[in-house]
Amino acid sequence: MERRFEGRRVLVTGAGSGIGQGVALRLLAEGATLVAADVAETGLKQTVEAAAEADRERLHTVRIDVSDPDSVSEGWAAALEFLGSLNVLVNAAGIMRCAHTHEMAFEEWNQVIGVNLSGTFLMCRAALPTLIANDHPVIVNFSSTAAFGSNPYMAAYSASKGGVNALTHSLALEYVKQGLRAVNIVPGGINTGITSGLNLPPDADWSLMARLTGWINGGALGDPKDIAGVVAMVASKEGRYMTGTEIRVDGGALM
Ligand SMILES: NC(=O)c1ccc[n+]([C@@H]2O[C@H](COP(=O)([O-])OP(=O)(O)OC[C@H]3O[C@@H](n4cnc5c(N)ncnc54)[C@H](O)[C@@H]3O)[C@@H](O)[C@H]2O)c1
Repeated sequence: MERRFEGRRVLVTGAGSGIGQGVALRLLAEGATLVAADVAETGLKQTVEAAAEADRERLHTVRIDVSDPDSVSEGWAAALEFLGSLNVLVNAAGIMRCAHTHEMAFEEWNQVIGVNLSGTFLMCRAALPTLIANDHPVIVNFSSTAAFGSNPYMAAYSASKGGVNALTHSLALEYVKQGLRAVNIVPGGINTGITSGLNLPPDADWSLMARLTGWINGGALGDPKDIAGVVAMVASKEGRYMTGTEIRVDGGALM
C-alpha cells in the first residue's frame, strides 16, 4: 500500500459505516492522521476495531450530527484538538428516505436535506478557514447517480445530492486561488447500510426504476473499497489537476 497521506490530517464524516468507514480505513492505511466522525457511536467503535493495530494511534473518533449546527461546532472543535490542523475533509455522512413524493412528510424531506445537503454545508463552513490555511487542501463530497439519472420515490435524496453537486462546484471556484480542490464522488449502488436499508414504497413500480447497479460483476452492487480507492487518489497529490468536477463510480449504471 502506498503511503500518500503521511503527515496529512483528515476528517471523514459518516465514518461509522459503509463508504465513509471504507474511506477512513483506506486513508489511515496510507498514513493519514484521521478523525472518524459519525452520529452513531456504535459504528465508530466498529471502525476502530476494523483499523489495523498500527494505524489506531493516528485514529480518533468524534460524535457529530452533521445536521445540527451546535453538534458540528462542538465536534469540529474536538476534531481540531486531536488533529491540530486539517488538509482533507471527506463528507460521506448521508441518509436516504423513500416515498411517493405526494406522500412524503415535510419533516422527512427536511431530514434528508438537513443531513445530506445542509450537513455537507455545515461541515465545509466549519473546516474551510483551517483547510485554506494549509497546503493542498481538499474537500471530497458525496453526490449520487440519483442526482444525474431519474430515481422515482427518491425525490428528497436526489434533490439533496443535486444540491451537493452545485455546492461543491461553488466551493471549487470560490476558493481556487487559496489552492482548495473540491470534487464530487458519484457512486452508483454500493453495498452499505443505505442499500441494505432501502425502503421503497411497497407498491413501487419497478418498471420505472433506474438501474441501481452497474454491469460490472454481473450487476452486483459495488464495494465500499471501490469508492475508497478513488477517494484516496482524488485527495492525494495524484488528483492535483482535478477540481470542480464529478467522478462517477457506478459500474457503468448510467452509461
Ligand atoms: N451506498 C450507495 O449505493 C450510495 C450511492 C450513492 C451515494 N451514496 C452516498 O455515500 C455516502 C455514504 O453512504 P453509505 O452508502 O456508506 O451509507 P451508510 O448508511 O452505510 O453510511 C452512512 C453513515 O452516515 C451516518 N450518518 C447518518 N446521519 C448522520 C448525521 N446526521 N450526522 C453524522 N453522520 C450521519 C450514518 O450513521 C452512517 O454511519 C452517503 O452520502 C450516500 O448518500 C451511497
